[in-house]
Amino acid sequence: MLVVNGLARRIGSRLIFQNVGLELPAGACVAIMGESGVGKSTLLNCIAGLDRPDAGHVTVAGVGLADLNDEGLSRLRRTHVGFIFQAFHILPHLTIGQNVALPLWLLGESESAAGPRAAAMLEAVGLAGREGGWPRELSGGELQRVAIARALIHEPGLLLADEPTGNLGPEHAGRVLALLRAGIEQSGAAAVLVTHSREAARWADRVLRLTPDGLIPEVA
Ligand SMILES: Nc1ncnc2c1ncn2[C@@H]1O[C@H](COP(=O)(O)OP(=O)(O)OP(=O)(O)O)[C@@H](O)[C@H]1O
Ligand SMILES: [Mg+2]
Repeated sequence: MLVVNGLARRIGSRLIFQNVGLELPAGACVAIMGESGVGKSTLLNCIAGLDRPDAGHVTVAGVGLADLNDEGLSRLRRTHVGFIFQAFHILPHLTIGQNVALPLWLLGESESAAGPRAAAMLEAVGLAGREGGWPRELSGGELQRVAIARALIHEPGLLLADEPTGNLGPEHAGRVLALLRAGIEQSGAAAVLVTHSREAARWADRVLRLTPDGLIPEVA
């Protein structure tokens, strides 16, 4: 589902990382740990085609990102990728239900078809009946769960999650990880989870550490 080869990114004159390689078949989950500022979010952005690497290749669902223009990249993202951002990116002027339905609208599904699916997805993340409310009415942990519902609703083949439990207490974090795990198992998606938490990393099949010179196996 995902192949990353020899990826490098510099920002200004600074080399953030190089030699990053990763192969992730459908259904596999990898956790990526690493110091703050080492480039984990930058790496996820390169994998999602939201940022362009300076060297190397990313292939998602058999398609090389370097061959796509911006429109092709956003089409690939809409179809195959679910992204949980470090800062949620929940849109304040859409209702909670509209936020979750958004990926379906982008794929051309009607509002009347997308609405019930969004409501069902919200129920699955423990927010039943909240679809008509507004993001400002939610706590950080609840917003996190809206972000998860939105990332999974279109059943993406690749889920990218940047610190999905970063703002949650341990009890909520456990519940959110269980939700994520169930979501990807149900859809057979591959997942990349960026996290600082060893607890969260245990949820993955494999734990890697991002260093300036690539991904290395994390020793517990
Ligand atoms: N647009 C930008 N302009 C300049 N520097 C940037 C930009 N984006 C990221 N950086 C720098 O690139 C480095 C990697 O950032 P990134 O956000 O990928 O780190 P991270 O590993 O996700 O950190 P954290 O764990 O704190 O989220 C950081 O040193 C950051 O300051
Ligand atoms: Mg980050």
